[in-house]
Amino acid sequence: MKSSAESSVANAASLARARALQAQDNGTPTFLWGAGGMLAGEFLRLCELHPALNLRAAVVRSKTPLSESQPHLADARATVSSEEAESALADSLAGGARAAVVLALPHGESSGLWKRLRAKLGSDAERAIVVDLAADYRISDPRLYASAYGAAHADMGEAENFVYGLPEYQREALQGATRCAAPGCFATAIQLATLPAAYAGLLDSERPWILNGITGSSGSGNAPKPGTHHPHRHGNLWAYSLDGHRHEAELTQALAWRGQVASLHMVAHSGPFARGIHLTAALPLNRSIDALEVRAIYAEAYGTEPFVEVLETGAPDIRRVAGSNRASLAVSVRGEVLTVALTLDNMVKGGAGQALQCLNLMLDYPETWGLARAGLGVC
Ligand SMILES: NC(=O)c1ccc[n+]([C@@H]2O[C@H](COP(=O)([O-])OP(=O)(O)OC[C@H]3O[C@@H](n4cnc5c(N)ncnc54)[C@H](OP(=O)(O)O)[C@@H]3O)[C@@H](O)[C@H]2O)c1
Repeated sequence: MKSSAESSVANAASLARARALQAQDNGTPTFLWGAGGMLAGEFLRLCELHPALNLRAAVVRSKTPLSESQPHLADARATVSSEEAESALADSLAGGARAAVVLALPHGESSGLWKRLRAKLGSDAERAIVVDLAADYRISDPRLYASAYGAAHADMGEAENFVYGLPEYQREALQGATRCAAPGCFATAIQLATLPAAYAGLLDSERPWILNGITGSSGSGNAPKPGTHHPHRHGNLWAYSLDGHRHEAELTQALAWRGQVASLHMVAHSGPFARGIHLTAALPLNRSIDALEVRAIYAEAYGTEPFVEVLETGAPDIRRVAGSNRASLAVSVRGEVLTVALTLDNMVKGGAGQALQCLNLMLDYPETWGLARAGLGVC
């Protein structure tokens, strides 16, 4: 672990490097699609805090200015049509530079757009550093994809070029990568909660792993829906996906990468708050082990991680992480069951923050640039 003197030297060096980058080339030109959306608003907020991303284009389909759809932003930003952004991106890449492309679009739309962009950009597409926030490229096994999404993928050949964007488990693959599929919000929570125990061989694959997740309303996106209508959501709580949740497929994939299988039983709930996910995982142990030993395994797995904390006492709540890129977790063992409670902000560690963390790794910037560890304190 670094001393505080070493940390402040490292921070000063990072800042100096950021300023040098900005002076050198005005940072990485960045093109965002879906700019009026929920996660795009969060990405734009984080962009304002980032020393080396230079937002060149914010694409919306409607004529609504960002000052109306994203009034929390401090910097005034003009929006453009997709055609205008596509031309600006082509010009940028034709000059030999890299450019960041962030797709904050509904499932199915981002792969359609990226397919079209690839055709338009030709070999210059190789210099585009793409992060997709949708589910389009998260699953590389066609059968697993079809079972989770109920249809064959329209661009499956490209999925294998995408690195799965969970930095805690994919850091090396993300460094220097040019394509990243950012994980789902629940998928981030269930993987961070289960993988240390699973990869340490502690869990029984035959008995069900019970995953109960509660999400805030921002997980449903910006368009008003009956389930996000304030008088119905406020003070209310309900379960959905009783027969299984799509995000289980991302955990199934992460287990398969290590030759493991599990019987996953996830039930998602809609909670009466805007930001955040609370997950309680009840995981069957395959041997007798005490809580201190399990905690040590989790502490070892996440000890050097900037954005995952393992609590020594108590249990995490949403207030602890709202607005931050941190996930916070606690473990407990009773008999044959390991319980992991985990919270994260679906908009940040479960969405735009994690996408930015991946982008930093892809662009060889310090991983923490633009990302807050501190939460808001009030959510
Ligand atoms: N919200 C979360 O917590 C969360 C977390 C992780 C991942 N994700 C994923 O991230 C993506 C964006 O989520 P979000 O919550 O930001 O969604 P959102 O608020 O619904 O925003 C989606 C944006 O995409 C645009 N859009 C909608 N339909 C479109 C279409 N048919 N063609 C082109 N553009 C379209 C919309 O533009 P207009 O404004 O022009 O209609 C909107 O700005 C989704 O794939 C979602 O599953 C969300």
